[in-house]
Amino acid sequence: MDDNQPVCGQGLWTGRLITFASLPSTNQWVLDHAPDCQHGDVVRAISQTDGRGRLSRRWMSPGNGELTLSVVIRPGADPLGVASLLGPAVALGTRACLDDLGLPAELKWPNDVLVGGRKIAGILAERDLRTDVIAVGLGLNVNLDRAGLDAARPLGGATSIALETGCPVPPDDLLPVLLEDIGRTLQLAVDGQRKALAAAWAEHDALIGRRIRISTADGLLDGQYHGMTADGALRLLSDSGVEHVLFSGDVSLFQVTD
Ligand code: BTN
Repeated sequence: MDDNQPVCGQGLWTGRLITFASLPSTNQWVLDHAPDCQHGDVVRAISQTDGRGRLSRRWMSPGNGELTLSVVIRPGADPLGVASLLGPAVALGTRACLDDLGLPAELKWPNDVLVGGRKIAGILAERDLRTDVIAVGLGLNVNLDRAGLDAARPLGGATSIALETGCPVPPDDLLPVLLEDIGRTLQLAVDGQRKALAAAWAEHDALIGRRIRISTADGLLDGQYHGMTADGALRLLSDSGVEHVLFSGDVSLFQVTD
């Protein structure tokens, strides 16, 4: 790769894989180049200098320790219906890829992938309302060691494939498997197969049966997690006995101390 000129390969379906040595954010690149992006294009950066996470957090990708990419989705006739399914679909595909490596992974609403209770991948879907393009960004911790994770994921509670298996994996070898797995689950989302996605999610849901605390725009709610709806929302039976259906928020496992 020379002067950050992109290299082109095979993305999802008939889309392209466009690889840059470095980008500020693959999601931002897709949103900035939306008119030139095709459904199924995958934009990858070996390093990402200003990556975004959920809830305005940062997502650092120093290079070669992660897979950092965004999938371009043109959702067609039902953009709102499809949009809420894309993050869960990529989480499910990433989980399947980890399973292929012999790593049992679970899912944490809205779209985190966990191994042994630690976050191994995060997903952020962002939409350009003017062009109707959705960038579904995935950051997967592949070879980051403990020091690298502490620097890149300062919130803590993170892990990587190499830490879990004791064996580094070349990200380039992993990428075709990952793309095949997320291509399959994203196709379900694009086809509006919401019940199939919700059923697959329930099979690997890390929060089932757990008491959780969710931080929402209106404050904190504690209660019992009641699963993810077919629309991608979280169902919570709060301690005051009210059932909530929430489309955004940050979940932590609630520790009972008394
Ligand atoms: C999270 O907070 O868990 C979501 C992290 C999403 C990070 C990915 S890396 C590729 C894409 N580009 C970005 O700027 N963010 C997403």
